[in-house]
Amino acid sequence: MASSVPTSELSLSGMNFQLSEEHLMIRDMAREFAETELKPGVIDRDEKQYFPKELLQRMGELGFLGMMVSEEYGGGGMDTVAYVLAMEEISKWDASASVIMSVNNSLVCWGVEKYGNEEQKRKYLPKLCSGETIGAFCLSEPEAGSDATRQKTIAEDRGDHYVLNGTKNWITNGGIAGVYLVMAQTDVEKAHKGINCLIVERNSPGFEIGPKEQKMGIRGSDTHSLNFNDVIVPKENRIGEDGFGFKFAMSTLNGGRIGIASQALGIASGALNLALEYAKIRKAFGTEIMNHQAIQFKLADMATEIEASRWLIMKAAREKDMGIDYVQSAAMAKLYASKTAMKCADEAIQVHGGNGYVKEYHVERFLRDAKITEIYEGTSEIQRIVIARSIIKG
Ligand code: CAA
Repeated sequence: MASSVPTSELSLSGMNFQLSEEHLMIRDMAREFAETELKPGVIDRDEKQYFPKELLQRMGELGFLGMMVSEEYGGGGMDTVAYVLAMEEISKWDASASVIMSVNNSLVCWGVEKYGNEEQKRKYLPKLCSGETIGAFCLSEPEAGSDATRQKTIAEDRGDHYVLNGTKNWITNGGIAGVYLVMAQTDVEKAHKGINCLIVERNSPGFEIGPKEQKMGIRGSDTHSLNFNDVIVPKENRIGEDGFGFKFAMSTLNGGRIGIASQALGIASGALNLALEYAKIRKAFGTEIMNHQAIQFKLADMATEIEASRWLIMKAAREKDMGIDYVQSAAMAKLYASKTAMKCADEAIQVHGGNGYVKEYHVERFLRDAKITEIYEGTSEIQRIVIARSIIKG
């Protein structure tokens, strides 16, 4: 019997994968922004390790910084599907811009809106969405990366305030943020159940921004270590109940992983686009190289793995929007898409031959940018732990 589901409306577990007019509009707007405003200076920004304030503000004006935040708090009121579409487009040219965007959207704005109180939402969300300021998510420490429960940063409870001491490492937006969500241990006896998430403002006395990290990739984005020396944080800056900090971090990271998966997808599809373009014009052995099967097989494998990544990401995004548990899907999407980004960037260099090794062809940057997607917001090994625990639990 013929299916009654149109081919444009493929469904999986009752999910509708059709994109709305609004989704397509956002995707096109992000594509245009990436091609006309991000691409032109991207090589220079990568080389000199900076991201201009004006570009950040432009991202705010276009609504890319608070996409999923409700309109009443200054956001775009969009769903996760819209967010991943925009992330993919922006990452096709500038993965530094997209990590700034991803941390602000998934880890900071989403977390504050979902778990913050009314006062916190009104105070912080409008400026985080507009680009007036940007957020940073501070979980990793020198001795607590993958093993995130072992927080050494201490938030000592002093009645109406906390006193914060410790160091955070590899913090995206670390030097440019105005709002920092800091995970810290209040009650060591309670292990991860004694961790709190505190909102720390940039100008707090005792808060120091360490030197900028010199990175292999996503060099336009700003990464620092942070030091907290007797920083006084009022109790009203704690997100959620006492001891909710670790759950807060894990819960926001589940959504963050969908964002990083779509960043990886963007790098992979950007690499395929450039490889394809090059294969159509570059000649070798008397014909365009796209006519050689050695090149065709590369392009075919890249396209297939990109498509598989896109479906995994879409499934996770839809589950999140539908209120279905998406922990496993998000981890699978990130695991697979980050591997795809590495492979596609590498193959795109190979298709370009010697030119692929040269900055002006972009693909060497894609390979350097791709690597971090296998590391941050949970390494590939951590994603496998999350997936294995989920399938074993059933
Ligand atoms: N979602 C919701 N809750 C989760 C969770 C998840 N994905 N993973 C764990 N939890 C909960 C558990 O249910 C448990 O809660 P209860 O005690 O109430 O049962 C609690 O957290 C502790 O979990 P485990 O007992 O499983 O702890 P563990 O130490 O064995 O494993 C881990 C925890 C999954 C390895 C976790 O430490 C982890 O995810 N590590 C990776 C950290 C990470 O992703 N860091 C990224 C840094 S941020 C970043 O990169 C941002 C950037 O700048 C780009």
